[in-house]
Amino acid sequence: MLDFAPETDNQRAKIRQVITDAFGQTKEAELVDKIRNSANFIPELSLVALENGDVLGHILFSCIVIEVPEQIPALALAPLAVTPLRQRQSIGSQLVKVGLSKCRESDYSIVVVVGEPRYYRRFGFQKARKFGLHSSLPIPDEAFMVLELKPSALMNINGIVCYPAYFHEV
Ligand SMILES: CC(C)(COP(=O)(O)OP(=O)(O)OC[C@H]1O[C@@H](n2cnc3c(N)ncnc32)[C@H](O)[C@@H]1OP(=O)(O)O)[C@@H](O)C(=O)NCCC(=O)NCCS
Repeated sequence: MLDFAPETDNQRAKIRQVITDAFGQTKEAELVDKIRNSANFIPELSLVALENGDVLGHILFSCIVIEVPEQIPALALAPLAVTPLRQRQSIGSQLVKVGLSKCRESDYSIVVVVGEPRYYRRFGFQKARKFGLHSSLPIPDEAFMVLELKPSALMNINGIVCYPAYFHEV
């Protein structure tokens, strides 16, 4: 039986381990530390998947700005990680779904993600370029996706999603 909950301080080392194991490198775990130490961190949107108290997966949504050119606040989903031995058992999908439902309770109306379109499409994400949205990160347009949390949130939002500097270091 899985539980989904906001992270607690004493889970941070385990979260770091899960992310490092999932990606096979420490950059994404370091990104999480940098986001935690920034004003963009939203504690209730850093969620863990737990089984008997053990952390099996983690998802983070943090604050980001879309310049259209006026500044529109939005959420960036990154990173998402499931411990390797428990991948492909729907834990990642459940984290995304629980996470998005928490995002819908917030004041934010847009979520962006850099990732595999085949994976994120199933949660309603669409190609950002369809809405005239581009990312400040040097990534293929294909991999940049967006989801509106409130109806019409993406209407007339043509601009650049400005990822903070720490994202450019990953
Ligand atoms: C990507 C990840 C979070 C998915 O979590 P998961 O619990 O393994 O995935 P789920 O069981 O919910 O979903 C499985 C589906 O995702 C697909 N999938 C899993 N990883 C994928 C990937 N890297 N690219 C594309 N599709 C992927 C599977 O093919 C499967 O599709 P299907 O349902 O059509 O068969 C997990 O595999 C992981 O931690 N990977 C390493 C880190 C990573 O790449 N994170 C994502 C970028 S931020």
